[in-house]
Amino acid sequence: MKSLYEVEEYIKEITDFSKSLDKEFLCGKNIAISGTTGLICSYLIDSLLIDETFDIKIIALVLTLEDGKSRFRKYVNDKRLVFVVANIVNPIHIDGAVDYVIHGASYTDPKGYAEHPIDTMLINFNGVKNMLDLAVEKKSTKLLFMSTCEIYGEADIDSIPEDYTGNSTQWMFAVVITKAKGLARLFVFVIRKKKESLLLFQGLVDVLALR
Ligand SMILES: NC(=O)c1ccc[n+]([C@@H]2O[C@H](COP(=O)([O-])OP(=O)(O)OC[C@H]3O[C@@H](n4cnc5c(N)ncnc54)[C@H](O)[C@@H]3O)[C@@H](O)[C@H]2O)c1
Repeated sequence: MKSLYEVEEYIKEITDFSKSLDKEFLCGKNIAISGTTGLICSYLIDSLLIDETFDIKIIALVLTLEDGKSRFRKYVNDKRLVFVVANIVNPIHIDGAVDYVIHGASYTDPKGYAEHPIDTMLINFNGVKNMLDLAVEKKSTKLLFMSTCEIYGEADIDSIPEDYTGNSTQWMFAVVITKAKGLARLFVFVIRKKKESLLLFQGLVDVLALR
């Protein structure tokens, strides 16, 4: 099969995108990225590395080294790209400095999150906590979390500001309990539906949600 790096249109696209990036902001920085073999972050990494003169270090979190080397085969000998094997559900350990953190890991396709509902929740919830802990430990100055507009359901505005809470009229922090309970309730629901998920907890307990 043809490598993505042999596809002319792809190379042109990432080259054009690379030119549009704020290189001054990124120059000389160490950036830890999760979800690196996925659609968005792999495109971002390719766009950062395509310019060979660009001084940057990307610490790419990958589920397996093979995944990373296979997706970024063009850059396996490029010192600007370093792989760290990590499942971001668990605490993340990286040697050296990290200036910026980008959290792009998730199950994102309907099949993925239908088949792995608990992992999908943990990756997003524990994942962001672990990426935040990493940022705090490393005194990083920025963390970017890739969310999705699906969290708003039918949003009633076209352009969504960061503090938008959906159709809820409640104040931002009051929404915390609603969303957290919603997530916990979903967790319980999924466990009830998918008894095999209980293997996760190494025991058989029956669970139910009280309202
Ligand atoms: N693609 C879109 O149109 C879109 C739209 C809205 C939001 N997003 C969000 O942007 C982010 C990136 O999307 P994408 O389309 O590139 O995703 P993708 O499905 O292409 O890639 C997901 C990545 O997450 C990694 N991953 C999964 N589980 C992991 C784990 N436990 N530990 C470490 N890595 C793990 C996978 O290996 C893969 O590299 C996601 O959070 C997604 O929800 C994407």
